This record gives sequence, C-alpha cells and structure tokens, in this order.
Amino acid sequence: MSRLAVYAGSFDPPTRGHEDIILRAADMFDNVIVAIGTNSGKKPLFTVEERLSMLHNLKLPDNVQVGQFDGLLAHYCQRAGAVIVRGLRATMDFEYEMQIAHANLRLGVMTVFLPTRAEQSFISSSIVKELARHGGDITGYVSEAIRLAVTAKF
Ligand code: COA
Repeated sequence: MSRLAVYAGSFDPPTRGHEDIILRAADMFDNVIVAIGTNSGKKPLFTVEERLSMLHNLKLPDNVQVGQFDGLLAHYCQRAGAVIVRGLRATMDFEYEMQIAHANLRLGVMTVFLPTRAEQSFISSSIVKELARHGGDITGYVSEAIRLAVTAKF
C-alpha cells in the first residue's frame, strides 16, 4: 500500500522552513501533497493562485504534488487516504499543534510531526513579509524564486 502524506499550510509565502519539511516528508512517504488550506484566523497577502504558483516554482522532488483545498484538512486527507504532516518549530507551536492534531485524530486522521531544523526555527511567513515590506533582505528565509515573488508584491 502506498503511503501518502498531506503537508498543509497557508504558505503565505512558503519559506525555507516549509521547503525543508517538504523534502524530509518526501523521503519518508511514497507521495506528498503540499496543500494550501484556509486558516480562518489569517488574512493572506497572496491569493491562492499566487501561492500555488510560488509552490510550483520551488524545486521539489517528483513525488511531491501541489494542491489546494477548502473546508477541513481532515476531510481532505480522508478523501485522499493520507496522513497529515506538520512541522514543529519550538515549544510555541506545540500546544496549538497538539490541539489541532487531537481534533484531526477524532475526525479519523493521524498527524506526523517533524521537527523544524534549528536554523529555521525562528522563520515565519509573517517575519518574511514584515522584512520585505520595509526593504529588508529575505535571502536566507526563502528560496530565490520566492524572494522575487515577494519583492515584486511589495
Ligand atoms: N519552518 C519555519 N516556519 C514554519 C514552518 C517551518 N517548518 N512551518 C510553519 N511555519 C510557519 C509559517 O510560516 C506560518 O507563519 P505565519 O503564522 O507567520 O503565517 C506558521 O508557521 C504556521 O503556518 P502554517 O504551517 O502555514 O499553517 P497555519 O497555522 O496557517 O494552518 C492550515 C494552515 C491550512 C493547515 C490550517 O489552518 C487548516 O488545517 N485549515 C483547514 C481547517 C481545519 O481543518 N482546521 C483544523 C481543524 S480545527
């Protein structure tokens, strides 16, 4: 049976931290879907189409596909027959992520946590946007294709 994982996020924009999790998930699973979902607590800067295009511009392994879903992540994973992959940056992520993981488990879908690399633990999409908005260098935070897209946006 092939093992499928969904790595969902806002990806507004995708960072090197996201990329690292995608690459490691791609090593662990037969196939990975990187899926843009809606976090109702966030107001994204980039449209879904722009974020899909940014994800397509990353150099990702052949077993990684890019997608988008509406509604609950657990329902999307159930339809796909996938587990959820989430990155854990530091203790700040832990409580929130555990809460969501338990809710998703009650809906029948398991979550696999991958620790974010130490050097990427303090990256966030918000910090990337804040730096870029004020002309700061975001080279170390995002890959070149994303840097160009973010710079163009501002
Ligand atoms: N390295 C560095 N930074 C990382 C990272 C990593 N490995 N992984 C995540 N981040 C950052 C992101 O940049 C993001 O930063 P931001 O808050 O400044 O935007 C933050 O950590 C977390 O964002 P992300 O991982 O993109 O997910 P999210 O918390 O925005 O959640 C969904 C997005 C789509 C997964 C979630 O809202 C969802 O599942 N929505 C559907 C509805 C649902 O099922 N809800 C849960 C059931 S209650």
